[in-house]
Amino acid sequence: MTGAVLAVDQGTSGTKALVLCPERGVIGTGFAAVHPRHLPGGLVEVDPEELYRSVVDAGSRALAEAREPVVALGLANQGETVLAWDPDTGRPLTDALVWQDRRAESVCAELTPHADELRALTGLPLDPYFAAPKMAWIRRHLTREGVVTTSDAWLVHRLTGAFVTDAATAGRTQLLDLDGVRWSPRALDLYGLSDERLPEVVDNAQPVGITRELGPEIPLTGLVVDQQAALLAQRVTAPGGAKCTYGTGAFLLAHTGDAPRHGTSGLVSCVAWRLAGRTGYCLDGQVYTAASAVRWLTDLGVIKGAGHLDAVGGAVPDSGGVTFVPALAGLAAPWWRGDLRGSLTGLGLDTTPGHLVRALCEGLAAQVVELAEAAATDLGEPLQELRVDGGLTRSTLLMQTQADLLQRPVEVSALPDATALGVGTLARLGAQPGLTVADALPDWKPAAVYEPRITADEAAERLAGFRREVAALLDRVPA
Ligand code: G3P
Repeated sequence: MTGAVLAVDQGTSGTKALVLCPERGVIGTGFAAVHPRHLPGGLVEVDPEELYRSVVDAGSRALAEAREPVVALGLANQGETVLAWDPDTGRPLTDALVWQDRRAESVCAELTPHADELRALTGLPLDPYFAAPKMAWIRRHLTREGVVTTSDAWLVHRLTGAFVTDAATAGRTQLLDLDGVRWSPRALDLYGLSDERLPEVVDNAQPVGITRELGPEIPLTGLVVDQQAALLAQRVTAPGGAKCTYGTGAFLLAHTGDAPRHGTSGLVSCVAWRLAGRTGYCLDGQVYTAASAVRWLTDLGVIKGAGHLDAVGGAVPDSGGVTFVPALAGLAAPWWRGDLRGSLTGLGLDTTPGHLVRALCEGLAAQVVELAEAAATDLGEPLQELRVDGGLTRSTLLMQTQADLLQRPVEVSALPDATALGVGTLARLGAQPGLTVADALPDWKPAAVYEPRITADEAAERLAGFRREVAALLDRVPA
């Protein structure tokens, strides 16, 4: 298809926008930061207007740089961030509760007797990470006015007037019937949300409206959760492959084909995308804090930022006996203990910033290994390799540590902004019916491949150290 598309990735810490041209690649970029507030008690909220402004600002900047018209817009979203808003005026009625926010733990606790039923219906475990507990919490504690939805539905409404969400984002709520890909009356009932006006669940690539908010008229034709967008961009479109995106958190997704896989290993089963009415599914595992753990070390003054991981960590040969479980916002899959906090053990007077950086890289990489092993168990075969993207893939230290502990090659995406490429591809598919994913996506050519450099025994020993610390954490704070 000729013509450029505007791909907008509305993420936790900022919005990135790319103008993607089929012949010339990226011809325009824009970025606008957003500033979630981290409050005591695991609360994380953000001003919805800031989210919206960031979409308009980043999108407009990318368009201005590209200096040519685009034929379609795609919008990726954070997944489980929710707010209440007035559908008549588009005005937010609450702050947005960010996916990391833990305040809905009380809602989940009440629903514990129904945890298995909800998981069988929706593919998701009971955890405040997902949208429905937060939606119920908003209804009980903040307002009964307007509608309560994930942030994408609000952004799309402000951009086009449509009241929709896409199948993949709906799959992050715990309100979607995973087999039928429609709202589940039973799940809504359990959450006390049966009377809610919910957005229509649409395909991930289809025209949903036209926006004039970025200047010219642009059809909005692609919508998706950011992680699923990255899965598509890395061409993991059939069972057997997996990707991990190292963003604010780290998220490993493995495609499972055209039927949901109700695994036993603790991963989430959800919609990858629905295209022309046909649904693809994936398994999903989460590390809640990746770049946000690096930012935490930065805020403490241990490093000057993510760009310094390699220099600081490279000053020492190993972690010097320090083990870091970077569960700074709790542990997600496969443990589902969001209530836990991180641990840092083995400290001595000789511990240096380099040891801490190496221990953080090992802790992050070890959590991703747990997710990869869980995915392999559910898929019934080991992963052959791991495709990766996101800002932290620029760290050679982290990527080499990942390959070492995983004992598989780690292939780094040529475009760090894989999410934007994924949603841009969906926008293109939505604007041109008949185009196939294979035709719309560039071939997978990694920018770098990290091969394991340690033996399987060494990797097992280092993983065992991490697992001992996780077990100690779990023992210390019974569920
Ligand atoms: O589930 C939340 C996740 O999709 C957010 O991604 O890139 O904003 O860390 P990111």
